[in-house]
Amino acid sequence: MSRLDISILPPHPPSAGYDRSLARGSIADDFQRRLEPANFNPGFFAALIQRTEHALADTPGVPELRYQLAFLLLQNNTSPALVERAAELLTHNPHPGTERLQTLIDGMRQRTAKAATAGPGQVRRVNWSIHNRCPMACRGCYNAFVDGQVTYDQATVIVDKLAAHGVMDVVLAGGDPLLWTPVLDVIDHAVGAGLKVALDTTGYTLTEERLTRLGRLASLRLPLDGTTPQIQRAFRRSKDRHLTRALNESLDLCDRTGFHKVRVHTVASRANLHDLAAIADNVLRHDCVRQWVVFQWWDRRATAALREELHIDADSIRAEITRIKEKYPEADIVLADTAVREFLNWMILSSGQVVTFGSGPDEEFILGNLLTDDITTIAGHPILDHQAMNRGMPVTPRR
Ligand SMILES: C[S@@+](CC[C@H](N)C(=O)[O-])C[C@H]1O[C@@H](n2cnc3c(N)ncnc32)[C@H](O)[C@@H]1O
Ligand code: SF4
Repeated sequence: MSRLDISILPPHPPSAGYDRSLARGSIADDFQRRLEPANFNPGFFAALIQRTEHALADTPGVPELRYQLAFLLLQNNTSPALVERAAELLTHNPHPGTERLQTLIDGMRQRTAKAATAGPGQVRRVNWSIHNRCPMACRGCYNAFVDGQVTYDQATVIVDKLAAHGVMDVVLAGGDPLLWTPVLDVIDHAVGAGLKVALDTTGYTLTEERLTRLGRLASLRLPLDGTTPQIQRAFRRSKDRHLTRALNESLDLCDRTGFHKVRVHTVASRANLHDLAAIADNVLRHDCVRQWVVFQWWDRRATAALREELHIDADSIRAEITRIKEKYPEADIVLADTAVREFLNWMILSSGQVVTFGSGPDEEFILGNLLTDDITTIAGHPILDHQAMNRGMPVTPRR
């Protein structure tokens, strides 16, 4: 099978365990399905908010409805006034999720007060999940898939807005951006606008010709999560039985063509901790690799059963990485644990919608849409912690 024969799997819904006893189309069922690709947009949220308001008008005291409405108001293009309404809905609310939402509200209030004196924050780095399809369906993948795919022309409008705002680094990801051919021209446009561009791809469609077109990238990121297909498949799911071989071939191609700007991503979980040293041997022998980043598997979109199977604490990974660093003192190896990743992302989705996410269940927040909204307003959303965001990892390795 040629690598180009890989069929494109449909975007998958969040894997959170649904309560199947809820009637389809009810407020409670729509609430639990609100992050599915067809629903995760302002139109769906606005309609659900309206239905919930009506239900609350009929039965005002129901804690579940008050909690759901508060969450929706915070998630959908919120404003200081809506944050206060959410706070009021949560007052003396016995719902178990209340405390977490109140913590988020406290943070938003503090940042709103700070922005009133210091001015709105400036975004320097963005992740752009520019293509909404993927050849894989990794277990607990935290990408927010939405319906809607920008055109090349719309993508250039977004790039120009980013450049004018002062964004410096853009990571183009997905899904798999290389399955959407206009991305090659978008990269040229973005580099021409002065942005540093990195690309996250599954590596399936890399060819020598394409690598030449990608020469203006600051960094190309390829995933490798195991030295055998069995280990790789614990997190990475694909219809391709030769997945590991395909990824190794992409690394070989980068070596052969002198494309020395590769960063390899490994998602570390309980399933591959024992294999990290072997993965390091495999990754670091490639001349093309400038940096190896090990991400702690993040359970943001995982069921309890999957969490049980894959979660591993950051200290166990750190101990393994320390041993690997002793063997490869010159190598640039980074551990990205989940503790520092909350609300760091200013993530543009394939529809132009901008989101960020926390670490609690269903904590994805719509900040606006770059095709229709003012970028300064989106950048100034009270949930964003600009200081933390600017401490994130640059698109190019340290050396
Ligand atoms: C969302 S993916 C998009 C790019 C590309 N599809 C890929 O997988 O490399 C961006 C990065 O996030 C990582 N990732 C996805 N889900 C994750 C999870 N639950 N925990 C940790 N890292 C994850 C991927 O391995 C990849 O390195
Ligand atoms: S981690 Fe990447 S390759 Fe895997 S399903 Fe998510 S977007 Fe696709």
